[in-house]
Amino acid sequence: MVQKKLYIKTYGCQMNVYDSGRMADILKPLGYVLVDTPEGADLVILNTCHIREKAEEKVYSDLGRIRLHKDEKMLLAVAGCVGQAEGAEIMRRAPYVDIVLGPQTYHRLPEMIARAERSRDKRDGPGRGVLDVEFPVESKFDHLPQDHTNVGPSAFIAIQEGCDKFCTFCVVPYTRGAEYSRPAQAIYEEAARLVEQGVKDITLLGQNVNAYHGESPNGQEWGLGRLLEHLASLSGLERLRYMTSHPRDMDEELMVAHRDIPQVMPFLHLPVQSGSDRILEAMNRKHTRKHYLEIIKKLWDYRSDIALSSDFIVGFPGETEKDFEDTLSLVQEVKYAQAYSFKYSPRHGTPGALMDNQVPEEEKAERLARLQELLNAQQQAFNDACVGQTMAVLLDRKGKQDGQLLGKTPYLQSVYVEASPRLFGQCVGVKIEKAFSNSLTGTIVTVEEVLKGHTL
Ligand code: 5AD
Ligand code: SF4
Repeated sequence: MVQKKLYIKTYGCQMNVYDSGRMADILKPLGYVLVDTPEGADLVILNTCHIREKAEEKVYSDLGRIRLHKDEKMLLAVAGCVGQAEGAEIMRRAPYVDIVLGPQTYHRLPEMIARAERSRDKRDGPGRGVLDVEFPVESKFDHLPQDHTNVGPSAFIAIQEGCDKFCTFCVVPYTRGAEYSRPAQAIYEEAARLVEQGVKDITLLGQNVNAYHGESPNGQEWGLGRLLEHLASLSGLERLRYMTSHPRDMDEELMVAHRDIPQVMPFLHLPVQSGSDRILEAMNRKHTRKHYLEIIKKLWDYRSDIALSSDFIVGFPGETEKDFEDTLSLVQEVKYAQAYSFKYSPRHGTPGALMDNQVPEEEKAERLARLQELLNAQQQAFNDACVGQTMAVLLDRKGKQDGQLLGKTPYLQSVYVEASPRLFGQCVGVKIEKAFSNSLTGTIVTVEEVLKGHTL
C-alpha cells in the first residue's frame, strides 16, 4: 500500500484529543501515517474548538499559514466544533479547504476523502469542497476501528457525548448535539483491549461525563458509578478518572465510588464557573454555591484526600464586583489543586451573547488576573505540600533529557525523575523533592507493583 502522510493539529479539550487519535486509527488502513508537520503532508486535519472566540480565530490564522504549504496533492480538512458550527462559512471564507466535517461524522472520513479526491481531479478552483456536518442516526462509535494505535500507559475513552444542559454561555449543546451514552459493554471491551496493550490509567471522557446513563450488559441503565465499578474489575487497570463533570450529576452512587473503588483517583475536575448564586442562575447552571460546596464536603467525608480542579468564567453578563468577590471567596473555601479560568466570550447563538449587560473587556481582564493570581498561589501551595511525601507516579512519558522519565501522580501533577527506560509504563514510588508551579521532581524510592495507584 502507498504510504501517505497525515498531519493532525488538535485544539481545545481532551475529547478532541481522543477524536484526533480515533481519526488516525480510521485512516491507518488507508495507508496514512502520522507526521509532525503539515509541510509535505497528503492530508492535513485541523481538529478545531469553538468554545471561545480566540480558539476560533486561531483556526482561520492557521488555515492561512497552511495554505502556503498546500500543493496539488494535499487535502486540507477542518474537523471538530468549528467545522460543525461554521461549515458553510469556512467554505466561503477559505475556499481552498477541501473537507469540512463535524465531531459526529468523522467515521465517514474515508468516504469524504474519496469524494474530495474525485472532485479535485475533475476541476480546479473554489467550490469543490465536501461538507458533512450532519448529526447522523448511526453512532460513530459503532463504526470506529476496534484497536487504538499509538497507545501509551495512559489513555482516554469517550463514553458520553453532547449536552442537554444549555448553560447560557456554552456552544457545546449546539456543536456536539444532544446527550448520548455508549453502552457499558462496548466501553468495557474498549478498556479491556487498551489494558491488554499495556494501558494502566484510563480517563473516561464526556462533555457531561457524570450524566452517563448507558445500557448495561443485562439491559438495565447504569450511571457512572456502576460503570466505574465494572471497569475496576479489569485486572491490570490501576487508575480510573473521568472528566468533565457537572455538579448536578454528582449522584450518591458516584460519590461512593470514590470511597469504595481504589482505582478511582482522588482528583476530580468539577467546574463551578462562578461563586455567585445570581450569576449561576443567569448561567442556567441549575445549582447554587451552597449545593456545590455540599457536594465537596460529602466527597471529603467519603475520601479526605480528594483534591479538586474547576473551570471559572469571569465577566459573565451582569457580573458585578460583589459577584466576582463571591467567586474569590468560594475559591478560598475550596482550595483548588489546579484550575482553568477564562474571560467570558460571547458565542453566537447562545443566550448569553444576547444579554444586554455585557461586562467591559478591561474589567474582565482585571478580574481574570486577580482570580488567576489566587488560583496560581493555591496550585503552588498544593504542589509545595507534596514535598517530602512519597507519591505513586505512573511513568508515562519520556523526559526531555536522556535518563529521565516523566510521570503523573494521582493528582495529575507531572513529575520528572531520573529513571531507567525499562521503568517506562510502571507505577513507582517517588519521594518528592522540589515543587514548581506546574511540575514536581523527586527520586524513585520503590518500584514494587504493590503501589497500585495509591498515594503512599
Ligand atoms: N466563554 C468563556 N469560557 C467558556 N467556557 C465555555 N464557554 C465559554 C464562553 N462562552 C469555559 C467553561 C467550560 C470550559 C470548557 O470552557 O468554563 O467549563
Ligand atoms: Fe456547556 Fe454547560 Fe453542557 Fe458543560 S454543562 S457542556 S458548560 S452547556
